[in-house]
Amino acid sequence: MSQRQRVFSGIQPSGQITLGNYLGALKQFVNLQDTADAFYCIVDLHAITVPQDPTLLRERILDLASLYIAVGLDPNKSTLFVQSDVSAHSELGWVLQCIVHMGELSRMTQFKEKAEGKDSVSVGLFTYPALMAADILLYQTNLVPVGEDQKQHLELTRDIGERFNTRFGSTFTLPEVLLLDQGARIMSLDDPTKKMSKSNSNPQSRIEMLDSPDDIRKKMSRAVTDSDREVRFDPKQKPAVSNLLAIYSLSANKSIQTLEKEYQGKGYGDFKKDLAEVLVNTLQPIQKRYAEIRNSGEIQDILKRGANRAKEVARPTLDLVKQQVGLGCTTHS
Ligand code: TYM
Repeated sequence: MSQRQRVFSGIQPSGQITLGNYLGALKQFVNLQDTADAFYCIVDLHAITVPQDPTLLRERILDLASLYIAVGLDPNKSTLFVQSDVSAHSELGWVLQCIVHMGELSRMTQFKEKAEGKDSVSVGLFTYPALMAADILLYQTNLVPVGEDQKQHLELTRDIGERFNTRFGSTFTLPEVLLLDQGARIMSLDDPTKKMSKSNSNPQSRIEMLDSPDDIRKKMSRAVTDSDREVRFDPKQKPAVSNLLAIYSLSANKSIQTLEKEYQGKGYGDFKKDLAEVLVNTLQPIQKRYAEIRNSGEIQDILKRGANRAKEVARPTLDLVKQQVGLGCTTHS
């Protein structure tokens, strides 16, 4: 029997996927698929915690699936599927809502950020982390590759899993978070104190995976820098340039030190121009594959196969949970 590690991660189909999603998460997904038994989910149930246009949401699910494949995920190696196609996620999500405490959910910084300034928010936005815990725990996951903004949710997932195991007996594997050193937190181009995000109202703040070469060049030339002219990595003193260096390093597969040497004595202008070309060269082949896949008519089949495999793997965990908690009367032997 193979002892491959189980990997699970997800992305919301709630906007255009950014370079931050790519460098923080998607690139890691691809690296893991050869060695791990990986499940990569399109978390549409999480997306509807804020209002979504139904037609656009359905398109975005297919867009994201196409992007998964375009960046290098192979549906024969990884299980690619849509969260709402596997009802076990919602079922376990409910049970875990009955395990997690209000106080724990109230402390989640993502909830606080998303709720800030809103007149009303959905209950689903508040209980979001319980569904995320269900996503992960259902598959007896060992490793969860994510960006840094998800770390707090992962810690809560472990707490929920541990509490359940203590109360009802050993049921869930407790997952570890897998964060990159660089790239775990790619910052906005217009404000290096904020993370690059698909939900930021200013499109100049982010590079999107499907941006045209011209857009990439324009956005890069407008990206904020720091006060002196030195291309040096120092996140405290020089947060903007350090962010661009991290993006450059990950995209060109060059170390930060090599880049610092390369740009010694040169100004920000050259540096940003070269970085724009690196990004154009990184994204163009992905965009070409994306267009082919998105138009191929194969995506639905791939997602259907993925959902079938996911259902098979999720079912025994859900049955065990019901048995441990004392739910239902048809699944217990
Ligand atoms: P989402 O859709 O906001 O983001 C998807 C992934 O991209 C990472 N990410 C970033 N990484 C580095 N720099 C950035 N600026 C940046 N922006 C986003 C995120 O950390 C994430 O890894 N709650 C999750 C989705 C989810 C999930 C799960 C993830 C639902 N269930 C189970 C893992 C396991 C989210 O909203 O990701």
